[in-house]
Amino acid sequence: MNAFHYQNNELYCEDIPVSQLAKEHGTPLWIYSENKFLHEYRELAAAFADCDPVICYSVKANSNLSILKSLNEAGCSFDVVSGGELFRVGKAGADTTRVVFAGVGKTDSEIHDALAQNILMFNVESEAELDAISAVAEQMKVVAPVALRLNPDIDARTHHKTTTGKKGNKFGMDIERHNALAAKVLSDPHLQLRGIHMHLGSPILTTEPYEKAAQKAVDVIAELREKGHVIDWINLGGGFGLSYRNDEAPPYSEYAKVIIPYIKQAKCRLALEPGRSIIGNAGVLISEVIFTKREGGKLFIIQNGAMNDLVRPAMYDAFHKLWPVHTPLPVPHDPEAKSIPDCETCDVVGPICESCDYFAKDRALPVLKRGDLLCTFSAGAYGSVMSSNYNSRPRGAEILVSKNESRLVRRKETYEDLIALEIDFLT
Ligand code: LLP
Repeated sequence: MNAFHYQNNELYCEDIPVSQLAKEHGTPLWIYSENKFLHEYRELAAAFADCDPVICYSVKANSNLSILKSLNEAGCSFDVVSGGELFRVGKAGADTTRVVFAGVGKTDSEIHDALAQNILMFNVESEAELDAISAVAEQMKVVAPVALRLNPDIDARTHHKTTTGKKGNKFGMDIERHNALAAKVLSDPHLQLRGIHMHLGSPILTTEPYEKAAQKAVDVIAELREKGHVIDWINLGGGFGLSYRNDEAPPYSEYAKVIIPYIKQAKCRLALEPGRSIIGNAGVLISEVIFTKREGGKLFIIQNGAMNDLVRPAMYDAFHKLWPVHTPLPVPHDPEAKSIPDCETCDVVGPICESCDYFAKDRALPVLKRGDLLCTFSAGAYGSVMSSNYNSRPRGAEILVSKNESRLVRRKETYEDLIALEIDFLT
């Protein structure tokens, strides 16, 4: 499903012209297609239906309450990594007994809140964390459900800043510690081992790492059962690929094909934590060209969307497809092509005082002028959630589109918002 498409030389989100939303709400503007992320969720659920998984959308990818609410109503559950995310899914109406809680630094108060809300399980990352969960559970006179996060030392071949399942990453624990902690759980009346957790990195464009991880999970579970654990969950995390360029990400069915046999072999329930693949291509960021400038042999397109809005290019050298909202030129098949007829090669930059404030370098784009709208595609995941007010820039609004209806789901910030938390302390 292509939620963002051109009709009469103009970009639409579902049935609404993007320029209409930009006129109404200003720019920078985040636009999300509800039918696109629901479609992705349903495709994933259908691909894995054979083993009846619990799909825990990874809230960190995009935590807008209206998106969470919509996914919740479609039957999706959630993966949270903080008390704040747990609070959000509660507000969105989630059944917290199907929520998993990951992250290397859970505080006692976060553990307390999660236990009070009866979550499905904690993905435990260290012995110190296991001890803290046990202590809080003892105080609360409950038994805490845990899955130990195994670092399987599998190379997911993704960006070094987003790989998590290799030795030397801060995540999870090696197999020796995993087995030692499993033994500790067995002798602790306040802990119950419910599963094994692995998350390899993000995004993963091949299925082999998942196959290796699932195989490892089966072996580890067999050993744990021999030792007396009643363990019934395999959580393989998220990380499914997203097509930022064309169709580089495999369909969910390819991942399912390699994973499901292992889940059946282990006679376990499957939990998954997809974020990017659900919401990534359901969102765009619309910016407006402020100026164009030629200097040092380069053409710069200076737009009002900047690294404070979308930090991924600055942070990971991430590629995002860009194309004007109005143009007779079709989106090129190879969006990285260095030269395209009727296009100019340019750097697309923001107004922030940093050289890394760019969205694209040496990109061929149709001729742009002041006031033109430029769309940054595949911005639904790790876009607005990673935005900041750097350079005291108010963030833009967020709009949720479904067919020919649009809803403002986060209003744009004002200058007053920028100082709201400080103003009382002026002396
Ligand atoms: N589960 C765990 C334990 C995770 O750490 C993550 C992502 C996910 C699930 C969801 O992964 P996904 O399905 O979204 O790939 N900011 C980076 C990505 C960081 C991913 C962090 N963990 C980016 O913009 O590429």
